[in-house]
Amino acid sequence: APNSDYDLSTPIDPNAIGLRQKLPGYGDAHFSLFMRKLFIKALGYSEDALSRPIVGIVNTYSSFNPCHANIPQLLDAVKRGVQLSGGLAIDFPTISLHESFASPTSMYLRNLMSMDTEEMISAQPVDAVVLIGGCDKTTPAQLMGGISANKPIIHLVTGPMMPGSYQGVRIGACTDCRNNWAKFRAGTIDIEDIAALNEELAPTGGTCGVMGTASTMACLLVALGMMPINGATAPAVSSARLRIAESTGTLAVQLAKSQLKPQALLTRESFLNAIIVLQAIGGSTNAVVHLMAIANRHPLIAGTIALSTIDGIGRTTPLLVDLKPSGDNYMTDFHASGGMLALLHTLSPLLHLSAMTISGLTLGETLSTTPFRPFSPSVIHPLSSPLYPASSLAILTGNLAPAGAILKASASKYRHLLCHAGPAVVFTSSADMAARIDDPDLAVTADSVLILQNIGPVGNPGMPEAGLIPIPRKLAAQGVLDMLRISDGRMSGTAGGTIVLHVSPEAADPASVFGVVRDGDVVRCDLEARRLEVEVGEDEVRRRIEERRVSGEGGRAWEVREGTRGYRGLYMREVNQAEHGADFGFLTAAGPRGGVSD
Ligand code: FES
Ligand code: MG
Repeated sequence: APNSDYDLSTPIDPNAIGLRQKLPGYGDAHFSLFMRKLFIKALGYSEDALSRPIVGIVNTYSSFNPCHANIPQLLDAVKRGVQLSGGLAIDFPTISLHESFASPTSMYLRNLMSMDTEEMISAQPVDAVVLIGGCDKTTPAQLMGGISANKPIIHLVTGPMMPGSYQGVRIGACTDCRNNWAKFRAGTIDIEDIAALNEELAPTGGTCGVMGTASTMACLLVALGMMPINGATAPAVSSARLRIAESTGTLAVQLAKSQLKPQALLTRESFLNAIIVLQAIGGSTNAVVHLMAIANRHPLIAGTIALSTIDGIGRTTPLLVDLKPSGDNYMTDFHASGGMLALLHTLSPLLHLSAMTISGLTLGETLSTTPFRPFSPSVIHPLSSPLYPASSLAILTGNLAPAGAILKASASKYRHLLCHAGPAVVFTSSADMAARIDDPDLAVTADSVLILQNIGPVGNPGMPEAGLIPIPRKLAAQGVLDMLRISDGRMSGTAGGTIVLHVSPEAADPASVFGVVRDGDVVRCDLEARRLEVEVGEDEVRRRIEERRVSGEGGRAWEVREGTRGYRGLYMREVNQAEHGADFGFLTAAGPRGGVSD
């Protein structure tokens, strides 16, 4: 008897699942199915296997990516979950990004990864997709691509690494990498110490073990409803992590059947919950850029979340989670204290409990069916005695940053710098800074404001994490640990200090005020007033901008965009500013011309 799949008289159901999905192929849907089946049978699958819902599993393993070292084991466990639940698990690769092995920066490649993810989800006959990832840019890239592809997706993170130990003191990537490097620069620890620390700072596979970008994004995936509540904090090397992977496979089969898609699941309330969690965990500044990019991929949410939304929520949300770099502990401590379940219960008076989650229950329903009494007030503070009262992340605007800049106030080491004015010491590029920062003759004091220009999205494609401008060596040697530092770049989520980032418009923009700040200009940061100003009159600013335009100095990156080949050219021409997410305009829900179609 002929296989009913090939009965040409039956139209192919556009809502069919499995290989019967009506995907573009060889023109005729029945012939396309016939071809898909014959090719996938070459891999050994039976008709029975091919009749099941298909769960795609995105594999971002690479031997260059220690943050993803456990992916082979996670893949096995996800497949077990899928297949125990009656689905067919088929894994496929996308690119793999590690922070240290993605030159010039991993951010440069985030949008490329999101395109890879979107197109591979769209191209293949998957009914639901498990996105396995972990390192900083991976989870945002996957969610951006997943929202745009709009097939059911569920996230599984690789989980944080364990802390290491040096001379009896716990250490972990990468807050302690930076702290110890700063001590080495200042001469307070020696070459033997720094070499021994290098052996212990990343003692297992998994993502950085503090509240850096990877941990922040894992917590935000839970808050958005895109990952189960227990998914964020279990260590990469734990058996709990493998059981989470197995149950993720089970949930993915449920999603394949329910067809709950990210554009339906995510609402503005989901994003508000994510921002509340971001403020309460003292999350990474990078997460702000990623959240903007993610929100702007969603046709109904794009444009409704702005930097001002983040600042507004911050004013009413205390910092509760005591993790480095804002506090003292590691992700393993957060996990042992109940992790996101404990935090969400603590925050529940502030949260939008009607927001949907990946399990098909609302956040409120999920919390009421998983009661938990937080018990570790030193790691997860109660609302009544926060670690920092409000606004761990604040947004500043003013003539120096008309479109905004960000300050992680909770990570400031010298609080008086949060309201400070001082003379600018300006570096025009990372290379200029590297050449002069340690010059004993550099005219700088602890009251100076260090300015680093031209590390924005276009000016230094990829917007490098160079915003943690080092304290000049001569001041570090005097014991200066913090200064007011301002740039149009980013910094690692694991770093701390009084550091203003993501200044927009960036210096490379010919009209940027930040691009014409000069040595000696008085620069003022006022956290209370949310202001970032340079005390230079409007006429003088205009004169400098014109002078810069005529001389051809600065703004060069802007001009060479058209003539730059390859992905770099695409990036420079298409990347938008940090307040929009540093995404490519043509990938946003609004599209290249703001949603206007011709
Ligand atoms: Fe991958 Fe830190 S380098 S999470
Ligand atoms: Mg990082």
